[in-house]
Amino acid sequence: MSKTIAISTGGGDAPGLNAVIRSVVLSAHQRQWKCIGIRNGFNGILSPSEFARHGGGTLKLTPDTVRGITHLGGTILGTTNKGNPLHFPIVHSDGTISEIDRTDEIISTFSSMGIDALISIGGDGSMEIAHVLAQKGLQVVGVPKTIDNDLEKTIATFGFETAVEFATNCIDRLHSTAEAHERVMIVEVMGRYAGWIALHSGIAGTADCILLPEIPYDINEVIQKIQEREQSGSHFSIIVIAEGALPKDGSFSVIGQSIGQAVRLGGAGEKLVKEIEHHIQKETRLVVLGHLQRGGMPTANDRLLALRFGASAVRAIADGYSDVMVALDPPFVNTVPLSEVTRRMKRVPIDSEIIQTARDIGISFGD
Ligand code: F6P
Repeated sequence: MSKTIAISTGGGDAPGLNAVIRSVVLSAHQRQWKCIGIRNGFNGILSPSEFARHGGGTLKLTPDTVRGITHLGGTILGTTNKGNPLHFPIVHSDGTISEIDRTDEIISTFSSMGIDALISIGGDGSMEIAHVLAQKGLQVVGVPKTIDNDLEKTIATFGFETAVEFATNCIDRLHSTAEAHERVMIVEVMGRYAGWIALHSGIAGTADCILLPEIPYDINEVIQKIQEREQSGSHFSIIVIAEGALPKDGSFSVIGQSIGQAVRLGGAGEKLVKEIEHHIQKETRLVVLGHLQRGGMPTANDRLLALRFGASAVRAIADGYSDVMVALDPPFVNTVPLSEVTRRMKRVPIDSEIIQTARDIGISFGD
């Protein structure tokens, strides 16, 4: 039976989104199905007037539209982390803000457009929206995306490896300056409340200290590591700190929160610079990698994972699945119920082999 599938990309962009879109469109085309892209998450449907300059909030996706995009970062559909349809912010004339659930509008608009199923590509927020839409009767398959790698029930999300590659390259490049100037160099990486990017890039980039949200640090331990290195003749140190890292008895470093958006983390590295310079006379410099980690071309592995996820999502729809997310469970791509993914977070297990490996090769977690 012919189908029309809607595709939405939500939350922060991640390298590999375009590869998923291409894979979905080509797999659907093989079945003579049609695809419609929604611009900027679900905003193309919920606020179509904002997309007049694009010719509307939705666009037909054909093999021609997705030609040559596998290697491109970003998303041809646009994305947003504002305007979650479950908590859509309404700003009233007196300045007060309230939130409404607009998922029923998505269901009715899809129905009027003849859309049979949705492939929702995103992180935890997008999976929660996908779950609610599926519960309301729409056929929905989620595709896990995030550089943070913090989604449950999948070994990996696409975008993560690209971010780790980039961060590792940056750490490699900082070694020479750290050594030449005998400085402490701190590299702050993204990841929200999970330390995957910091852990993987920190080990691969041979950091001396890795500070994770999962292991609150004791500044005295960090100082001790720097001093041990000084005494052994290494007059420089590299510290990788996750944006969600926090000191023992301290709290997350937060920049603020805008209407309809998640809390913005930031400042963990800056806090650490001050703490180190307060304790020892050692020039300490900070590099915040920020959004550079989300840009650029996806690695070959991320492209492959994204293409596998896209084709698997279409197969899942053909097989009648709904309310599921495709997930990597090597060597397979499986489907898992969205109810087992939402409102959870895959954090670094502190007793894992990879943490033990880091400890065995002398990396300090500041604990
Ligand atoms: O979830 C991906 C991510 O890049 C996080 O690592 C980071 O905390 C957040 O998004 C930043 O979001 P924004 O681009 O809205 O500042």
